[in-house]
Amino acid sequence: MSQESATFTISGLAGNDLTVRYRQKQTPVIAGQTVAIPEGKITVFIGPNGSGKSTLLKTLAWQLRPEMGTVILDGRNIAEFSPKELACRLGILFQENSAPNDLTVEELAYHGRYPHRRLFESLTPEDSEAVERALQLSGSDRLRHHLISQLSSGQKQLAWIAMLLSQSPKYLFLDEPTTFLDMAHQFEIMDLVRRLNRELGNTVLLSVHDLNLAARYADHIIALRDGRVVAEGSSEEVLTVEILREVFQVETRIVRDLAGDSFYCVPLGKTCEQVSVKGCR
Ligand SMILES: Nc1ncnc2c1ncn2[C@@H]1O[C@H](COP(=O)(O)OP(=O)(O)OP(=O)(O)O)[C@@H](O)[C@H]1O
Ligand SMILES: [Mg+2]
Repeated sequence: MSQESATFTISGLAGNDLTVRYRQKQTPVIAGQTVAIPEGKITVFIGPNGSGKSTLLKTLAWQLRPEMGTVILDGRNIAEFSPKELACRLGILFQENSAPNDLTVEELAYHGRYPHRRLFESLTPEDSEAVERALQLSGSDRLRHHLISQLSSGQKQLAWIAMLLSQSPKYLFLDEPTTFLDMAHQFEIMDLVRRLNRELGNTVLLSVHDLNLAARYADHIIALRDGRVVAEGSSEEVLTVEILREVFQVETRIVRDLAGDSFYCVPLGKTCEQVSVKGCR
């Protein structure tokens, strides 16, 4: 996506010329980066630890304020939205989440309704319907009376996703939603994300470390290194030996499955010199 199309986006989400610096740091973590998030698609951020994935996600979700640059949400500068308007549109699952220990899954899901309620208004049938739908969709209905503190990591993830869904946001920001999950739960979360995208039309931004999950689920990939967008495009365009070498400094082999409709990134080793593999340049 070009710089021009990001600047003139009238719906969807774009960050224009973003510079982000943490207060105690001298150099910006993100410096003058422009990204356009395709509407109604799943965009995946990849990059090594510390490359700026969480920082960029938080900035696009307006949880961090850029030192320079703008975030445009549905044609308006995101700074013009009230916190309540933003909470109705943006659902965010951070890398680390914490809930009070004595909250049940169902109570957490009801928290997602706060942006939709007026001051002192009691729960409406619409709130209960949204929570019920969220519990069912996320697959956490069977856990509704369990305390969050007593859930496994995968179950906690489902509970947080239920809270996001009850919020009914158009945009979902998920920072490493599959970390700590076994393979089956990784697929469960990612299949759910795809359903939300395909059936409810949610625009999804997420970060993952597993390149094969990215290959399988992303419509659009943004690869970051040192706070810089190194490459963006479809998984076929971004998950190449050359780009992965530049981004992760790791040698990989890209393998197609026999049917030819999907491919896998096989990591070979840290640098070419350290790996004696035929075909490694
Ligand atoms: N709250 C903070 N205060 C100061 N520096 C921070 C803070 N959060 C992140 N950083 C720094 O910003 C840079 C980017 O961090 P960020 O968390 O965005 O990376 P990331 O790509 O999400 O990494 P990971 O894969 O480990 O989650 C790192 O150098 C990190 O040390
Ligand atoms: Mg992170």
